[in-house]
Amino acid sequence: MNQQPLIIDCDPGVDDAVALMLAFGSDAFELLAITAVGGNVPVVKTARNARILRQIAGREEVPVFMGADRPLRREPAGAGEFHGAEGLGDMTPFEPGAPCANGHAVDAIIDLVMGRPAKSVALAVLGPLTNLALALRKEPALADRLGPVAVMGGARSEGGNITASAEFNIWADPEAAAEVLATGCDVVMFGLDATHQVRAAGARIAALEALGTPSADAAASMMRFSQRVEKEIVGWDAPPVHDPCPVAWLLKPALFELQPCRIEVETHSELTRGHTAVEFRVDPAMAPHRWAVSADADGVFALIGEACLRPAAPSTTLRAVPLPHEGGGK
Ligand code: RIB
Ligand code: CA
Repeated sequence: MNQQPLIIDCDPGVDDAVALMLAFGSDAFELLAITAVGGNVPVVKTARNARILRQIAGREEVPVFMGADRPLRREPAGAGEFHGAEGLGDMTPFEPGAPCANGHAVDAIIDLVMGRPAKSVALAVLGPLTNLALALRKEPALADRLGPVAVMGGARSEGGNITASAEFNIWADPEAAAEVLATGCDVVMFGLDATHQVRAAGARIAALEALGTPSADAAASMMRFSQRVEKEIVGWDAPPVHDPCPVAWLLKPALFELQPCRIEVETHSELTRGHTAVEFRVDPAMAPHRWAVSADADGVFALIGEACLRPAAPSTTLRAVPLPHEGGGK
């Protein structure tokens, strides 16, 4: 099978955790790296959490790089009330066996993308866009080299979740999002218009709990936490599960309807900070971005269930050279 080379930039984060379990269990990806960014909780915790989730999924061959600990300009602002103080809901964190990879996430993104054929590496961004913005500042050629940049972020017709008009990832670092959108990257944005259609209803969580695998148990635990806190804070019975959407689109694009558009981010007004202005009145052939307007929630949860059932299968191309005991080492 031709695997899609993929880097996931994230801030685990309970829904990031579900997205990672989806990616770790999907043999359609050659997972090049997980890069951590400060967001829901500080980056020392998001990087640790990515390593914990990697260990649970049995995918310790995938390197985790630590990235930016603060936005380009704004003060760091977490979302611990929705993710738990440690970022993994009710899960008690532990120190994972495998450490972070050496080097900064920004350099890892640059090296991995620039070292491969143009447009061959996809990037899923599931937290504030700080790492990607810093990488584009350091290596502007990245914009044309990157494949699709599937971003969880943005607020339009659904309104915001951190303010009336902004979604958390974009609000947390609006300058980073604005810079990324202005560079010509092939951004596909999964905002609340789409992710609010993907909800962890009780039956869907119970179906995961019935699978009995470590990945399914972890994903279900995160959703149960969200179910409780979103009921308490927002009054919802079924919380949206945002971050699996970009990963699910990379796996099965037909699950989402996208509209060509141009997106800009508000960075001046405090009231509308981080609002994504999405203009659909563009020439489709010239549209720089795409915005997800609908999602097939059953399809997304089916992918999550399939991935959580699959035993850990390290990316084949990551072990192109057989290990000594496999007859290699000549
Ligand atoms: O608004 C939802 C986004 O903010 C998700 O990525 C969630 O993990 C938080 O980071
Ligand atoms: Ca996230």
